[in-house]
Amino acid sequence: MIESSDFRMTRIPLHHGAGQMPALGFGTLIPDAAATITATRDALEAGFRHFDCAERYRNEREVGQALQAGLAAGGIAREDIFVTTKLWNSNHRPERVEPAFEGSLDRLGLDYLDLYLIHTPFAFQPGDEQDPRDQNGDVIYDRGVTLLDTWKAMESLVDRGRCRAIGLSDISLNELLPIYESARVKPAAVQVESHPYLPETELLEFCKEKGIVLLAFAPLGHGMRPGPLEDPVILAVAARVGKTPAQVLLAWAVQRGTALLTTPKTATRARENFDISALPEDAFNEINRIQTRQRLNPVVKTGVPGFIAQGN
Ligand SMILES: NC(=O)c1ccc[n+]([C@@H]2O[C@H](COP(=O)([O-])OP(=O)(O)OC[C@H]3O[C@@H](n4cnc5c(N)ncnc54)[C@H](OP(=O)(O)O)[C@@H]3O)[C@@H](O)[C@H]2O)c1
Repeated sequence: MIESSDFRMTRIPLHHGAGQMPALGFGTLIPDAAATITATRDALEAGFRHFDCAERYRNEREVGQALQAGLAAGGIAREDIFVTTKLWNSNHRPERVEPAFEGSLDRLGLDYLDLYLIHTPFAFQPGDEQDPRDQNGDVIYDRGVTLLDTWKAMESLVDRGRCRAIGLSDISLNELLPIYESARVKPAAVQVESHPYLPETELLEFCKEKGIVLLAFAPLGHGMRPGPLEDPVILAVAARVGKTPAQVLLAWAVQRGTALLTTPKTATRARENFDISALPEDAFNEINRIQTRQRLNPVVKTGVPGFIAQGN
């Protein structure tokens, strides 16, 4: 971890010289198109330099538009921001990977990506329907492709210089291990739910040992209440250090060596979520000792996103 004198600018190096990921990331899972544009601009203005997107969020065009306008207005170079997007479940067949990647790049208006992730380890029926269902309403999975098949197609994108790094999301350590062992281009990052109620300590230790960035989504517990934002330990630390509960949770995530994704939707919240500072060691350790365990997002069980409306 490269801790600059400014904690908010902490960057985590990716292996093989694939650049550095700003630890504080802005997530673009925002269902409304107009809100996507304003929230992305606000995040850039507040100081966020890491943007997490996905084909499945169906708003890459709006994110791209907001980034182009924001970079131009702020005199910010493309190289100064870190952009990730994700391959959706219905594009796991190797021959679908490159077209899906190029489609995302085109919608984002970019000519390279910093990071491309396999969104979930679940392959759905290949095709343009993102949520293929049978007559009973059950997801139609694709048994004709393995995660390693998809990974090899992802490796070719790195070979051709189309993206600097590749990784996986919504994956357990058990699923990651065989990919890590077989991979020619090793995963640079894994994006998983993580907060004090789901610290993913074993996965984090493995990642640190192998130089993989653990990129935490739901660092605020998806904003659910009750949840980490209302945890008594977090509230007490926040009062003690003069920060908000959200700032404490985000600081804890950075301090333990993960990158994170948060989705403030207003300019005020973007500034709040960017304005974090390191916690005193006793406060950090108190949060590490929270015993509550809770997974909030069921996507890891089925590959179906927890927070995207059906048909959206
Ligand atoms: N790989 C995956 O499967 C996956 C799954 C989910 C998310 N993600 C990524 O992770 C990103 C982050 O999503 P998230 O839900 O994890 O974000 P988050 O920032 O942890 O939670 C968002 C929720 O927290 C609330 N919130 C934000 N800032 C707050 C603050 N300062 N004080 C109080 N509440 C606050 C928001 O409320 P308001 O809505 O009222 O603003 C919203 O309800 C997504 O955009 C996406 O990029 C990935």
